[in-house]
Amino acid sequence: MIKKFTYGKPIQTEAVVKELTPESSRLPYFDVRDNAEGEHTCSLVYPMKEEDIVYGLGESVRGINKRGFLYKSKCNDDPVHQESTNSLYGAHNFIIISGSVCFGLFVDFPGEVVWDIGYTSLHELVITPCEPDFDLYLIEGADEKAIAKEFRQLTGRSYIAPKWAFGYAQSRWSYMNAEEVREVVKEHRENGIPLDSVVMDIDYMERYKDFTINEAAFPKFAEFVEEMARQGIHLVPIIDAGVKREEGYDVYEEGLQNHYFCKKEDGSNFVAGVWPGKVCFPDMLNDDARRWFGRKYKLLLDQGIEGFWNDMNEPAIFYSEDHLKEVFEELGKMKDRELDIYEFFHFKDLVLGVANNDQDYASFYHDYKGETIRHDRVHNLYGYYMTRSAAEAFEELVPDKRILLYSRASYIGMHRYGGIWTGDNMSWWSHLLMNIRMMPSLNMCGFLYTGADLGGFGADTTEDLVLRWLAFGIFTPIMRNHSALGTRRQEAYRFESKKIMADIISIRYALLPYLYSEYMKAALEDGMMFRPLAFDYREDTFARRVEDQLLCGDSIMLTPVYEQNAKGRYVYLPEDMKLVRMKSADTYETEVLPKGHHYIDIALDEVVFFIRKNKCLPLAKGAQCIGELDFADLKLLGYVTEKAEYDYYMDDGYSKDYDNPAYRMKFEMERQAVTL
Ligand code: GLC
Repeated sequence: MIKKFTYGKPIQTEAVVKELTPESSRLPYFDVRDNAEGEHTCSLVYPMKEEDIVYGLGESVRGINKRGFLYKSKCNDDPVHQESTNSLYGAHNFIIISGSVCFGLFVDFPGEVVWDIGYTSLHELVITPCEPDFDLYLIEGADEKAIAKEFRQLTGRSYIAPKWAFGYAQSRWSYMNAEEVREVVKEHRENGIPLDSVVMDIDYMERYKDFTINEAAFPKFAEFVEEMARQGIHLVPIIDAGVKREEGYDVYEEGLQNHYFCKKEDGSNFVAGVWPGKVCFPDMLNDDARRWFGRKYKLLLDQGIEGFWNDMNEPAIFYSEDHLKEVFEELGKMKDRELDIYEFFHFKDLVLGVANNDQDYASFYHDYKGETIRHDRVHNLYGYYMTRSAAEAFEELVPDKRILLYSRASYIGMHRYGGIWTGDNMSWWSHLLMNIRMMPSLNMCGFLYTGADLGGFGADTTEDLVLRWLAFGIFTPIMRNHSALGTRRQEAYRFESKKIMADIISIRYALLPYLYSEYMKAALEDGMMFRPLAFDYREDTFARRVEDQLLCGDSIMLTPVYEQNAKGRYVYLPEDMKLVRMKSADTYETEVLPKGHHYIDIALDEVVFFIRKNKCLPLAKGAQCIGELDFADLKLLGYVTEKAEYDYYMDDGYSKDYDNPAYRMKFEMERQAVTL
């Protein structure tokens, strides 16, 4: 059951798709506390019991259980995020509290929200939106899964990616020209490493100008796209939020003439520095500007492109023209002076504070639903509305086809229009663990098509980290190896163990009928593909504590290795399960293990997962790309003590008649069929 509570006069975000009448009764469970005069905010206070677990917050640091830290919902471009980072790229204001009572809460508010979950006071949850105007949705249901489902029904069906986008993607900032891309594809093919797409970072553009192509580096682009398609490869170009300020550049000129860019108080365009140099930000919140920007993707669609990633759309601001001027003036005053240590730190803060500065976010405006609204009040909607602009345009331009689309910044509601990758992580083991822990909370908030940069984006990776990360990444819908300019090369073929990497990646393809089917069912039935153990084994005290194992779809449990030099790991089995140890798409061993605690050896060249009791999954033969995968030639792999049934979903992967019953099949597996 969902109840809506409205405080003040909220700005409409279009996160939800159902209209509910606000309750006149008091909000249950919480105290609503007015904060000090002058602050003009109120807080929702919930006394947490010892046993309460707080799930949710989508893209955020730390554990599956969010207790013990202060998080801020504020889309934030922080490429070196760590355990102490309060906000990442997405702002996802949904939690489920599970303990003596179990309920969900969605705070629909587009500005910053502070989530103090036992940080100031160990047993108190205090939620503070930075203005007193917001909508709350309180969701009660039988259990966590039922609550998450109700929330997803409230917020609408998750984005569905084309099937090819479940293949392995190779990315790097940056492949500088067509030759480099050809080389990447050739190396994958020659080394038997499956591959479905090559992601094109900013250097495919002419001086980082959106909707342009660097003709010298990528001549005859449409022909190149076709050449790649013949090899089973999709090219996936990036689109950045900021439009380069350059006279004569058509996108800039059109935006300027039609007043599509965000403006400052004095009516002039807000100018920021991002990759292209000085840019203006299209007012994605304005219907006309959003439609205009979305139509621009046509240039690339017309050349055969079928997938995009939207970036820098928090929006990231390296500096603003105005603020930079002020900083230089201050620095100028310091230049020839002897600085004491505090002045020196001030100097440092001035320089470091130039990027993503709050003052900048409070200095430009949107024309949203007929009102002029300062950006910081709706900050978390910008990435959402940029992605919406593309998705709405695809609906008009190519209505019958699914287009791949994922974004960096997001807010709940955007999950209807595209997926998200989790931004600039580092080649750190802790970020592999963070990737694992984030999956269920992202799914809870509707983001099903998601994944992290495998191998890590920033810093130099190590071979074992790539192997372990791939071994987890083969299960995540976005399976993309991406790394930053200047870091160690981390394409699978660059390593001595490239044969092992090829085998691990080929396991993804063998599991794809299962993974795709589970993804589709989660999308169509508002379910969660990735779940904490406690969601399915509610009464199991140990399962409630597990932070590093996940259920993936209906049949399997994942137990990834995320520590360097580990030869295996401790695993908790909430029931008897069958361990599957895969070395390649068609080499595997199985073993039934009893409920309880185990130490499992897992070598670097293995993928281990568990099949739950009386469950099974379809397994294909491997392939070099999705187009070559035979979805009809399947065998069932199961752990059957009585009988297992599998609900198989399979469509053509392109069209949108998702609910066609012809896509549904049931597989059955009897006990004797799997006696090993
Ligand atoms: C941002 C993106 C990253 C990309 C880089 C250059 O940092 O998050 O993925 O490679 O910009 O475009």
